[in-house]
Amino acid sequence: CLWVRNLRLKRRLPGPFAWPVVGNAMQLGRMPHITFAKLAKKYGDVYQIRLGCSDIVVLNGDRAIRQALIEHSVEFAGRPNFVSFQVVAGGNSMTFNNYSKQWKMHRKIAQSTIRAFSSANSQTKKAFEQQIVAEATELVDIFLTLSAQGQYFNPAHELTVAAANVICALCFGKRYGHDDVEFRALLERVNQFGQTVGAGSLVDMMPWLRSFPNPVRSVFKNFINLNQEFFTFIQSKVREHRETFDPRVTRDMSDAIIGVIDKADGDSGLTTGHTEGTVSDLIGAGLDTISTALCWIVLLLAKHPEIQTKLHELLDRVVGPDRLPSTEDRSSLAYLDAFIYETMRFTSFVPVTIPHSTTADVTVDGLHIPKDTVVFINQWSVNHDPLKWKDPHVFYPSRFLDGSGSLDKDITNNVMIFSAGKRRCIGDQIAKVEVFLFFAILLHRCRFEKCPHEDLSLNCSYGLTLRPLDYKITAKSRRDLPKVRE
Ligand code: HEM
Repeated sequence: CLWVRNLRLKRRLPGPFAWPVVGNAMQLGRMPHITFAKLAKKYGDVYQIRLGCSDIVVLNGDRAIRQALIEHSVEFAGRPNFVSFQVVAGGNSMTFNNYSKQWKMHRKIAQSTIRAFSSANSQTKKAFEQQIVAEATELVDIFLTLSAQGQYFNPAHELTVAAANVICALCFGKRYGHDDVEFRALLERVNQFGQTVGAGSLVDMMPWLRSFPNPVRSVFKNFINLNQEFFTFIQSKVREHRETFDPRVTRDMSDAIIGVIDKADGDSGLTTGHTEGTVSDLIGAGLDTISTALCWIVLLLAKHPEIQTKLHELLDRVVGPDRLPSTEDRSSLAYLDAFIYETMRFTSFVPVTIPHSTTADVTVDGLHIPKDTVVFINQWSVNHDPLKWKDPHVFYPSRFLDGSGSLDKDITNNVMIFSAGKRRCIGDQIAKVEVFLFFAILLHRCRFEKCPHEDLSLNCSYGLTLRPLDYKITAKSRRDLPKVRE
């Protein structure tokens, strides 16, 4: 029973004293991942906290996290049955559903859809990359327009639209103009999604807070509304696809998913609602994450002009002024990838994964964790683990290069931003290609500069992603290149 379970959990796991009613909620602070890492110094890498009435195990550090997610992958593959998770995509999301036979099938379908439209063969690979190149070159033009007469601007909105367009083009065969007011408004709303599903959000931990007016209740109401708005958008696109579906022609990812789930007569164990759930997973996951990565990259370029100069020199040497950089240049542009890995490590912009739960009793680091325990996985602590990284708080891209200037795979593999094990991100490969191409093309055409008298701050807002607070830069043209999209 629950009482015995709690008693076992309490006896066996170390952790801070939990206050009645709120538990440790008041101790998390503005940046829970930093608090979790501090608590690990006192209680060890595996410990327990309490938020409201939920006992939660927090995992920290490279060794304990990999032990849990890789050696005990099935036991750590669950998701908690949070009310907020049931709100996503009408309850049919793969990302927010618990580990089960049906979930395995759902994840397989989502994975093979991504592969089919990005890396299945040289044609799909080319089409995918061309889509990114078109968005990136348009973005350069917009940045240069916004920088006319040396003006400073916040690149966040344009980066969000550009990243959204890549995934919308893949899923729906449709992109949106940067001046499409409705689309921009939808994206700004969806960006608030991570406030609620990020670890430490209280809406699921204290259900009683939902019964009278208070800030937690309004955050939850906002979450319900924004999910409804986003899901209505997804449903209307899937409906259009169903109405014009032709089994002989797969136009985009939506058609592919309809073909597998809708037309399979329940063979897959999934219902038509899972079609919308899958599309929603793919669009939702690729929005905030990619644009946040790019926001940090632009900020860090402007903050480190000496590194930016080295990157420009490399691009000039390898690519030159007469063509755009491409993925074929990647091995010769290892310093660019080193910059991306260091951005992922240093900012750890997905600091804690989406909450997991245990699917069975399990032991980590000699500590017993019962079935159905909520687990927070602190990726930030892996990327700042002093046992793995020299000067973890210093931004130093060259740490990823070996003696010959190539990317050192043993070191890049130590970065954890896509999680690991059964719940590892399924968009990691397309995300890496996307971030690389956007970064290479922006850098090839522009130099990013901060206001001379202002220091760019690394302050950020906490949620599923850490987003830099409003900052301003200007983009200076390095050369004029032909446009890709007319
Ligand atoms: C899950 C990171 C881009 C699709 C996740 C998780 C993380 C993550 C940390 C949670 C894993 C866990 O709970 O343990 C990132 C980062 C990205 C990125 C850093 C970009 C830089 C994408 C893209 C897509 C995608 C572009 C697809 C188009 C997914 C899906 C899941 C997921 C479907 C849920 C997996 C599951 O629950 O089984 N991602 N992601 N991600 N990601 Fe990504």
